Amino acid sequence: MKKHHILKDARWIIDLGAAPGGWSQIAARVTDSTNESIRVAAIDFLEMDAIPGVRFLQMDFLDDDAPAKLLEALGGAPDIVMSDMAAPTTGHQRTDHLRTMHLCEVAAHFAIDVLAEGGHFLAKTFQGGTERELLNLLKHNFRQVVHMKPGASRAESVEMFILAKGFKGRKSSVADSEPG
Ligand SMILES: C[S@@+](CC[C@H](N)C(=O)[O-])C[C@H]1O[C@@H](n2cnc3c(N)ncnc32)[C@H](O)[C@@H]1O
Repeated sequence: MKKHHILKDARWIIDLGAAPGGWSQIAARVTDSTNESIRVAAIDFLEMDAIPGVRFLQMDFLDDDAPAKLLEALGGAPDIVMSDMAAPTTGHQRTDHLRTMHLCEVAAHFAIDVLAEGGHFLAKTFQGGTERELLNLLKHNFRQVVHMKPGASRAESVEMFILAKGFKGRKSSVADSEPG
């Protein structure tokens, strides 16, 4: 993530699938967020210890009212939406893959709905896994889309992230008009 400098100018961040809070802590630090002046909103259906400068919602991101609640908690348009959400594993690889991809897709639509122009979207996906439709949607709405493997992940891990940089803004969005 460092290499891509997405955190350098970040002012407002939304962290999806935040527990136990590693990314939220970094987000609060880079945005100089404090409880008096919140710059980071986070969500997880698991509990998370309070982190100074992070407004935390314990709820399912897939709930209909989660997007509005996150925006209200932040109080401004985010310039980064990041998602480390992973579906609880069932042991059935295909099912786990589809569930995590669904979370990635919902997160991408949320990012396109709420990001400030120029903002970035980072989300967990699977090796070789980003579906063509999602990739096309991101490529249309962001200036650059790259896959990356986090430095810390084990070589044999299938964990991958997709980073979409430079949101073009909703004027040019085709989020709702892309053919099914
Ligand atoms: C890999 S962990 C996140 C670790 C976190 N980024 C950190 O740095 O501490 C993935 C998280 O996604 C959460 N998650 C998965 N599906 C979710 C959903 N639908 N709504 C909210 N959180 C979800 C899980 O509860 C889990 O805590």
